[in-house]
Amino acid sequence: MIKLAPNLRVLVIDDMPSIHDDFRKILCPAPSARSEMAALEMALFDDAPPAPAASSAPAQYDVAFALQGQDGVTQADEALTAGRPFALAFVDMRMPPGWDGIETIERLWRLDPQLQVVICTAYSDYSWTEVLRRLDARDRLLVLKKPFDSIEVSQLACTLTAKWNLSQRAALQMSGLEDEVLQRTSELRRTNAALESQVVERKHLENQMVQQDKLASLGQLTTGIAHELSGPMEYVYANLATLAEYFNAMQAMLIAYGKECGEMLESPAQQRLAKLYDRLELDFLQDDVPALMDHSRIGLERVRAIVQDLTDFSRVNTSEPWQWSDLHRGIDATLNLAASELRPHADIVKEYGELPEIECQPSHLNLAIMHLLVNAAQAMGRERGVIHIRTGRSGHGLVWLEVADNGNGIPLDVQQRIFEPFYTTKLKGTGLGLSIASGVIQRHGGNMEVHSSPGAGSTFRILLPVRQPFRTG
Ligand SMILES: Nc1ncnc2c1ncn2[C@@H]1O[C@H](COP(=O)(O)OP(=O)(O)OP(=O)(O)O)[C@@H](O)[C@H]1O
Ligand SMILES: [Mg+2]
Repeated sequence: MIKLAPNLRVLVIDDMPSIHDDFRKILCPAPSARSEMAALEMALFDDAPPAPAASSAPAQYDVAFALQGQDGVTQADEALTAGRPFALAFVDMRMPPGWDGIETIERLWRLDPQLQVVICTAYSDYSWTEVLRRLDARDRLLVLKKPFDSIEVSQLACTLTAKWNLSQRAALQMSGLEDEVLQRTSELRRTNAALESQVVERKHLENQMVQQDKLASLGQLTTGIAHELSGPMEYVYANLATLAEYFNAMQAMLIAYGKECGEMLESPAQQRLAKLYDRLELDFLQDDVPALMDHSRIGLERVRAIVQDLTDFSRVNTSEPWQWSDLHRGIDATLNLAASELRPHADIVKEYGELPEIECQPSHLNLAIMHLLVNAAQAMGRERGVIHIRTGRSGHGLVWLEVADNGNGIPLDVQQRIFEPFYTTKLKGTGLGLSIASGVIQRHGGNMEVHSSPGAGSTFRILLPVRQPFRTG
């Protein structure tokens, strides 16, 4: 509850000193006169309900007087600056030689729009319509016609100062409420933002868990598929080589037979064999069978590579001993292994920083790096490109590794899918390279980001912890 001392300051602006005396008598009566006034009021409003304690005695007004509008406005200005504004002004209409009542009131309201005003007049130079049009604030303006009755003045003062005080209190309460609403709104906003970021974080974690679950079940599935495929594939592969040897032997025999055939006696059986020999089109078969075998071998090699990918993919979920290892040595070994894939497409530029040994599963990490390097080489167009391999230390026990190429780059819609297993844009891709790599990095408690735009190349950046905090030994 806001409590304010009531403002009982009244300004009387009138060019007649005798009028000032009248106001003084009415508004600031001597103590005996005050009880008379109270009695008068009681008599006048004898059927009124009992008044509240505060208004049961005539109020003690603090009245200031001015003979001219200019002086009145100055006093109002000073009072306002001092933080003690007037609640009410009685303003005479005609005050020669200075401003008239209308002009004075206009100026008073320009200073203080809250001021309640009673315009006092015996007659007016303006029609009342004109007065109201010019002042245009009927809710703060009352008219008191001269000669006035003291009870009228007393009631106007009482009612209008009470009105000023009430509206002031309402405004204060309103601004208090507004402050409270603002405070609550900003609290709500803060809570909302916190909730939103929790939801985002939760979604992110859920996605990660779903992704890990998917990878784990894919890992199991692919282990099975790879195992089932590799046996038959290996014997088809071996059989193909044997078949080629057998075909060579048969071919030699058939060629010899063809030569001998013509010189043999022409028994009916020999004629039938010769016909079959002709139908065989040995010259064509001589070329076509080795070609077919070659294609089958290439196809099989492709299947073998896929099975290898699947095996790698499932292997990243298996355990290799964790050990302290030099990342640079791992990168160099991987570069040697991948040289035949990389050399035809790009030059390699190494920009190694100072690195401590890190706790890792080295062959898994090498596999991840291998996939990034091969992708980088495959991203080059006709022109030979450059692949930068950069490493460095990041604060808080982290190291980073970047594989950056100046290849064809990755469009945004593709970027959103490149870590999905089996997502590929390549004719002969399996789409497992980045899934394998990101699986490895996740198991190391690190993360991998890609920055790329079409035509400007791609950079894959890996962040890895030096130490595995939840592992012992
Ligand atoms: N450095 C790169 N530059 C441009 N595109 C890339 C790069 N690395 C990956 N990509 C895109 O991401 C896709 C997925 O890559 P990922 O290594 O998982 O599979 P892939 O290379 O298509 O097949 P796989 O690696 O199994 O042979 C690629 O098909 C390619 O569109
Ligand atoms: Mg790849």
